[in-house]
Amino acid sequence: LVAEANEDIRRRIRTIPDFPKPGIQFRDITTLLLDPEGLALAVERMIAGVEGEIDLVAGIEARGFVFAPAVALALGAGVLLIRKDGKLPGATIVEDYALEYGTDRITIHADACAPGARILLVDDLIATGGTARAAVRLLRKAGATVEQAAFVIDLPDLGGADALRGDGIAVSALVA
Ligand code: PRP
Ligand code: ADE
Repeated sequence: LVAEANEDIRRRIRTIPDFPKPGIQFRDITTLLLDPEGLALAVERMIAGVEGEIDLVAGIEARGFVFAPAVALALGAGVLLIRKDGKLPGATIVEDYALEYGTDRITIHADACAPGARILLVDDLIATGGTARAAVRLLRKAGATVEQAAFVIDLPDLGGADALRGDGIAVSALVA
């Protein structure tokens, strides 16, 4: 249903086979971003699914950084950068998560959000959910209230959105 309603977004996203390795169908949002109408529609619809007041929009490096500020400006919220390890200059808190091989680490500044700050998590895509679920754990560890996440793309076969829902998050995605 959502996917059909957002055909105008889906057709602006390109799929490139075997990137970054054989067997991966890479969903490339650069074509969506190049199109002013596509970019505006994506941001508008990400915002449309948001309920209640949001203090901060948390974007996940790197592709989440494209959408988070646009969504935040429209909601009258600030932007919280969730960075990969080793990039933030101040005192940080960290969260590790599993990749297909090995682990990765995301970080935020320890003082990035006041206790109880209402946070919307934003990223371009949810696949296994490993990244987004780690982001939720990290933000909750910081004392934030995280109840909603917005993505442009969900890859439902990989189960990430359902797992994130199991963590108590209302998940929205524009295309599947
Ligand atoms: C991609 C994407 C999400 C994540 C989704 O980021 O932007 O953040 O993977 O995958 P998952 O649900 O299986 O965790 P990537 O790590 O490729 O980094 P990038 O944004 O820097 O390209
Ligand atoms: N991140 C994880 N899986 C992806 C995919 N298939 N396309 C683009 N980004 C991704």
